[in-house]
Amino acid sequence: MSIEPLAWEGGRLRLLDQTQLPNDEVWLELTDHTQVAEAINSMRVRGAPAIGVAGAFGLALAALTSEATDCETLLRELRRAAEELIATRPTGANLSWAVKRTLAAAEDASDVESARTSVLREAQAIQREDIEGNRALGRHALELVPERATFLTHCNAGALATAGYGTALGIVRAAAEAGKQVSVVATETRPLSQGARLTAWELLRDGIECTLIVDGAVGPLLRRGATDLVVVGADRIAANGDTANKIGTYNVAVLAREHGVPFYVAAPTSTIDMTLLTGDSIVIEERAAEEVTAPGGRRIAPPDVDVANPAFDVTPHELIAAIITERGIARPPYASALSEMMR
Ligand code: MRU
Repeated sequence: MSIEPLAWEGGRLRLLDQTQLPNDEVWLELTDHTQVAEAINSMRVRGAPAIGVAGAFGLALAALTSEATDCETLLRELRRAAEELIATRPTGANLSWAVKRTLAAAEDASDVESARTSVLREAQAIQREDIEGNRALGRHALELVPERATFLTHCNAGALATAGYGTALGIVRAAAEAGKQVSVVATETRPLSQGARLTAWELLRDGIECTLIVDGAVGPLLRRGATDLVVVGADRIAANGDTANKIGTYNVAVLAREHGVPFYVAAPTSTIDMTLLTGDSIVIEERAAEEVTAPGGRRIAPPDVDVANPAFDVTPHELIAAIITERGIARPPYASALSEMMR
């Protein structure tokens, strides 16, 4: 079974610390929502759907640790905790979606005790639905995957980036389970090496063939015809299909177009933000300069050099052959396909 990086156990959130992979498999036990906010911010848990699930459990911890004796006080505390959790990472749509959904469960409750139980139940439902959704997404994608398929993927949109099974890597898993011969080329993914540290780790763990390349090797590889399809995840998808994903995704999409390789986005519908008409309004998280100048703590650039470190980029919808979700496959024109899907 593929790894599930979050587990609710004994009134605590157990979370696999992804900053320690692939060297150490360290499980943290989080007991309050500020610890969850720290874990999201420092990317101990990362990947849009996984941080959504973590945020939902963060709110559950806020509810369970609150000493409030009336609904009004509890809701005031939960709204504050929800804001803190949502502020940790701005680009992914799933975090605010999951936290708001969990908060709404408390708002609907009639007394404090049932509010506490409802918040936890909602978080558990989000976690369960994410795994089921990823499996459905993988099944929908089978028609796009040849019998022998070499995938190219960027960053980590795998089990580690979700409650389990993965989106982009969920498609790889579903294809393997359906008897197709699959292998994956994973980009290293600078600056935090999610491809090298996480995609390679989880694929090898599941016995799926994986070749690691540096980000700059994508062009020549696609030119040689060495991959059949590109599949990436998404952090936020605008109503016209423009897609924010890990920095470097846009480069891959342009190269895929140039070399005639289909470029697919795989994401749950909770990543689709119908309030944004285009990707131009997606907020791109800017992260610390040290991630670039001293990756993993080892200095590779002068400390006083100016640095730009956007964590995500936006791939325009024209470069995307299809968007695969748990509800099915959306194809261009996305404005109508996504509004139909989200109805
Ligand atoms: O900064 P990260 O590691 O959270 O970025 C993750 C990605 O960009 C993933 O591709 C995206 O969240 C989709 S995960 C199913």
